[in-house]
Amino acid sequence: MSERKKVTVPAVRAMKHKSRIGMLTAYDYPSAKVADAAGADVLLVGDSLGMVVLGYPDTLSVTVDDMLHHTRAVVRGTKSALIVGDMPYLSYHVSVEESVRNAGRFIQAGAHAVKIEGAKPGRIRTIEAILEAEIPVMGHIGLTPQSVNALGGFKLQGKNADDASRTIDEAHALERAGCFSLVLECVPSELAAMITEQLTIPTIGIGAGPSCDGQVLVFHDVLGIYDGHTPKFVRQYAHVAQDMQTALVAYLADVRSGAFPDEAKESFHMASDEELKRLYATRDDGGVVVEMPRS
Ligand code: KIV
Repeated sequence: MSERKKVTVPAVRAMKHKSRIGMLTAYDYPSAKVADAAGADVLLVGDSLGMVVLGYPDTLSVTVDDMLHHTRAVVRGTKSALIVGDMPYLSYHVSVEESVRNAGRFIQAGAHAVKIEGAKPGRIRTIEAILEAEIPVMGHIGLTPQSVNALGGFKLQGKNADDASRTIDEAHALERAGCFSLVLECVPSELAAMITEQLTIPTIGIGAGPSCDGQVLVFHDVLGIYDGHTPKFVRQYAHVAQDMQTALVAYLADVRSGAFPDEAKESFHMASDEELKRLYATRDDGGVVVEMPRS
């Protein structure tokens, strides 16, 4: 199979109206390798890793150092997909200068762009400064999990006309600021369709209905690896956690019964029968006399 071309930020922007964008999260070398080989256009090193990889109840404890550690592993596993690093809580909240520096650390780790939640006026100024440092930014509005406490939980956003209208304004503000694409998380399908229709940059939905220009899901949700709460918008394409457990139960049973490892197939042996005999002859401390298996 021929190598895919590298996906760039302008290429993702240009996909609007041409082809739907397939995006997945990835958190380490194997998940990046599999998602890239499957043909994902964009890999997001999401701060959702706090929940699905590190076992926190939300994303708020994830640090820049955690994210960079995982970003580097994803970079090593990716050949073609565009890699977006998710800026974690507090990495772009304190000052514009600190935000630009933190965004730059993602680029130095090998990401091609960063994602930032929210669109309040202060956030827009931060995004503009990051863009000025030549770092492409993906916006993220609707349910922004880093605001879970302010929002009062992981809930559908933009359900009433006032909230929906504010979300549309936020989408325009992010486009004007220069974001190359926009994640819409957990908003009504009708609202996502309006935003998608009005913007010139692609929208990428997660729990935002089928009208967005692309879709993103968490790797562990798609594959059924995560056994925590699975939101309504997830479609599971496999039950990998169950398969892993079945395999591990079988392995442990084989260890306990002695069926693993097999003497011929899964073990190493002395260079020859003569070497084995020489070993017995030179040692007087006994041991079990073993026939060398023929492979
Ligand atoms: O962290 C994450 O996985 C995300 C996506 C769900 C958009 O932000």
